[in-house]
Amino acid sequence: MKDNQTLPGHIAVIMDGNGRWAGKRLLPRTAGHAAGLKRFAEIAEICSDIGVKYLTVYAFSTENINRSAEEVSGLFSLAYNAIDTYIEKLLKKNIRAKVIGDVSMIGGPLLQKIRAAEQKLKDCTGMTLCIAFCYGGRHELAQAVNAAVSAGEREFDDETIGRYLYTAGIPDPDLLIRTGGEKRLSNFLLYQCAYSELYFCDTLWPDFGRSELMAAIEDYSKRKRRFGR
Ligand code: IPE
Ligand code: IPE
Ligand code: MG
Repeated sequence: MKDNQTLPGHIAVIMDGNGRWAGKRLLPRTAGHAAGLKRFAEIAEICSDIGVKYLTVYAFSTENINRSAEEVSGLFSLAYNAIDTYIEKLLKKNIRAKVIGDVSMIGGPLLQKIRAAEQKLKDCTGMTLCIAFCYGGRHELAQAVNAAVSAGEREFDDETIGRYLYTAGIPDPDLLIRTGGEKRLSNFLLYQCAYSELYFCDTLWPDFGRSELMAAIEDYSKRKRRFGR
């Protein structure tokens, strides 16, 4: 990290390209997801070490459930096992974790495991790691409106809506990175990325390492943010 560089307080990442990474190696897509998980752990640790305050990653979308049963169950068991693999490391690094998404889609033992892990990390005061799993931006907005109505809200402004989003209390992303070459949001943080700086790169997620992250941060540090002013 160069001294004069502006570090984004909140980095959001669409970790895309696992399937293509595996395909190029004639491996099953699940192998690409396993490699992607290792990268995720590495990038999270680097972000924490360099002082990023919030890291939000897109791990599984509400639409991804329509993939083959084999791929979906592979991803769910990868998530389940990842908690055991990484929980102590997160604790040691003082990283608080939060999973955001449609809990009715997660369900069962995985959800219990997620909640227990969040509980275990709740007093950590370092980086907040937010994992979007079974997450869709439109679903998030719809549930926010429903939750607000149930709570008796009758008038909505930006601030009211923000309070009922899964990301309540978390500042908006400063920098949104998408790997894998596609230039779209794919239903990720639609409300929160109103003024985020967007960074797209062709690197497939399992190949996205420290130097690629630093290149994204350096690019961000050269941007001039105006917020409409
Ligand atoms: C992103 O990689 C991970 C998930 C969506 C779960 P993909 O699985 O979308 O990989 P590509 O885009 O097919 O290469
Ligand atoms: C977005 O990637 C979801 C995640 C990275 C978890 P997709 O691969 O699902 O997005 P599309 O289908 O290319 O828009
Ligand atoms: Mg993809």
